[in-house]
Amino acid sequence: MKQDATILGIETSCDETAAAVVRAGETMLSNVVYSQIAAHQPYGGVVPELASREHLKAILPVVRQALADGKQTYESVDAIAVTQGPGLAGALMVGISYAKALAFALDKPLIAVNHLEGHIHAVLLEERQKGNHELLFPALALVVSGGHTHLYLAQQSGESWSYENIGRTRDDAAGEAFDKAAKLLALGYPGGPIIDRLAVHGNPKAVKFAGSQLKHRDRNEKRPVSDDRPRFDFSYSGMKTALLRHVELHKLQASIEARRKALAEIAKPKLEDYLAHCDRETLDLVASFQRSLVDDLVEKTLTAAQACEARTLLVTGGVAANQELRQRFELEGAKEGLSVLFPSRPLSTDNAAMIAAAAYPKFLLKDFAAMDFSAEAGLKLT
Ligand code: KG4
Ligand code: ZN
Repeated sequence: MKQDATILGIETSCDETAAAVVRAGETMLSNVVYSQIAAHQPYGGVVPELASREHLKAILPVVRQALADGKQTYESVDAIAVTQGPGLAGALMVGISYAKALAFALDKPLIAVNHLEGHIHAVLLEERQKGNHELLFPALALVVSGGHTHLYLAQQSGESWSYENIGRTRDDAAGEAFDKAAKLLALGYPGGPIIDRLAVHGNPKAVKFAGSQLKHRDRNEKRPVSDDRPRFDFSYSGMKTALLRHVELHKLQASIEARRKALAEIAKPKLEDYLAHCDRETLDLVASFQRSLVDDLVEKTLTAAQACEARTLLVTGGVAANQELRQRFELEGAKEGLSVLFPSRPLSTDNAAMIAAAAYPKFLLKDFAAMDFSAEAGLKLT
């Protein structure tokens, strides 16, 4: 197999249409991301039908741009990789149909990639790019995004990667909690980036949001009762409810409505605009919410890392872009002698370079997809 294979990656699982060219799983030749945020913003969240239509409009120009930026042509790439799931079924279908058509017309191998594996390989891609080819095992990966909060033990045997899920959220994902909190406080969509930037202006100790205490086994869990291996689950819906209660109890609705109206009149609100329409109480609330969420994520993940005797911790997915989260993981990880790796901020959120990178070991193993494979909205990572 060609060792320096150049792979075109395509990602359309949610609200970003992305294409990238990566050589040998480590050299990013191009990385194009067309964000649909503006299209979904008026609705305060991702509208699946709208996402599919936006992908349809963007896919061709985005792929062309990725090839041009990477000084490649349709003919010069060695394989086409595409996200199979998890994600929005209609959105995934756009990328998959396009990738199949390309692979068929060009007679190139087609590789199906799990989006969550992609997030993990975003870190590996950049580590290789820095010259770090040796990962210390056991390696634990926290994939924390708008749709997922998962802990995986990652194993590598030759070129083959496998993953064991040892924890996940029982309700809301961490990014979803950020988004819902921002929506409730009229801070726009997506919530994570704006809460991240506002939190530094508030007092994180002003309000206490208790982290979830999960003492009982998840009743929805499918594994047999005889399997009593420890799980490291998360839960964020309680924090969201506590925030709602706080808003009601402290009668913040009127000021929230005033902010909603004021920000709606600004085409692209900047940080100064948000700050101008957030009083001290709101900034303290935002800072406290983020502090509690970060505390919980860091504490549970490090408990899992200790239990697994992990030597490397990978933290990836949209929420890994959060400043406080990164600082806390670095600090707490260092105390435990744990090497903590993150993707750069652009590769934390959805992109296609991570899909092309995750496809490279599969290319070497000739693990190609059949032309009739389909999107799997609930695809698991194993
Ligand atoms: O990985 P991603 O782009 O898409 C999914 O696979 O879900 O993650 C998007 C999520 C959103 O919930 C967004 O609010 C959150 O990541 N996010 C952040 C930050 N940037 C994006 N959350 C906290 N702090 C950030 N800086
Ligand atoms: Zn993602």
